[in-house]
Amino acid sequence: MRVFVIGGTGAVGSWAVPALVMAGHRVAALARTPASAAALRAQQATPVEVSLFDRSALTDAFAGCDAVVNLATAIPPMARFASARAWEANQEVRVEGSAAVVDAALAADVGRVLQESVCMLYADGGAAWLDEHAPTDRFPMAEGNHAAEVNIARFVEAGGEGVVLRFGWFYGPGAAHSEQMLALARRRVVLTLGAPGGYQSAVHVADAGAAVAAAVQVPGGVYNVVDDQPLTKRDFADALAGAAGRTPWVRGPGRLGRVLGGRLTSLTRSVRASNARFRAASGWVPRYPSAREGWRATAKDLPR
Ligand SMILES: NC(=O)c1ccc[n+]([C@@H]2O[C@H](COP(=O)([O-])OP(=O)(O)OC[C@H]3O[C@@H](n4cnc5c(N)ncnc54)[C@H](OP(=O)(O)O)[C@@H]3O)[C@@H](O)[C@H]2O)c1
Repeated sequence: MRVFVIGGTGAVGSWAVPALVMAGHRVAALARTPASAAALRAQQATPVEVSLFDRSALTDAFAGCDAVVNLATAIPPMARFASARAWEANQEVRVEGSAAVVDAALAADVGRVLQESVCMLYADGGAAWLDEHAPTDRFPMAEGNHAAEVNIARFVEAGGEGVVLRFGWFYGPGAAHSEQMLALARRRVVLTLGAPGGYQSAVHVADAGAAVAAAVQVPGGVYNVVDDQPLTKRDFADALAGAAGRTPWVRGPGRLGRVLGGRLTSLTRSVRASNARFRAASGWVPRYPSAREGWRATAKDLPR
């Protein structure tokens, strides 16, 4: 297949592009800088300099493609999570960007669009397993994801095949927030947001990249892309501390995270998402069944 990737230089994109190339697809990807273009070329992808918001140029870029994969996000650094302004670029990328991608895909007659979303959209489910029919929730940080999913629904109504990938929390090499968390854990500070018994659905970025490559062939629909065994936040923190080789002195902010405002609620809720539907549709099997194995591998890949 000919596949165009947006966000191919990001935390997941930089794993998804080589996975797509390895699977035998011809891959082109949006590049915003000469350095990104060089990185894409090194991965055997063709860089294309085009604005995410320029529908006409995007339509030209998508011509002849069988699938478009939109992985673009602009999440602020952790230290700025509570600031509404810091989320504006992300809103623009997810709301306006996903609309432009769908409009251009329709104009270029692309058959299939895959859109990144997050399983933190689900309402707090406690200890229950959540499939793709579980109720979702509305809160400030989720609005961009909802908008992107609505754009995919619009693509499907117009006759296209739309795939929404609701990823778990990304961690691993290249996922900036997780690299920061590992660095803190090595200094004996481990962050847990929300109740320690709540669940954290996560996926290692290598597995997320492989999932994108597997997803270009699945029937249209919504899929959770998470590892096999979401851990409780307590176990997740222990897995991180164990991988860092440190006993934490500081664990925080725990339940306090709840008072930090609506922008954090995606991280404080309990989401125990099931990947059964995606595994059955794609044959994808995560290399890291839980964050225990994934954090261990991450700590090895990112030596102190
Ligand atoms: N499910 C999750 O847990 C989840 C979801 C999203 C992000 N995150 C985390 O948040 C961290 C920061 O995320 P991030 O989204 O800033 O970085 P990122 O995942 O490293 O990169 C996002 C991708 O979107 C592209 N992009 C951003 N704005 C764009 C625009 N205006 N036009 C075209 N492309 C654009 C970036 O291109 P450039 O390379 O040109 O900047 C990059 O390819 C990541 O490290 C990741 O771990 C987690």
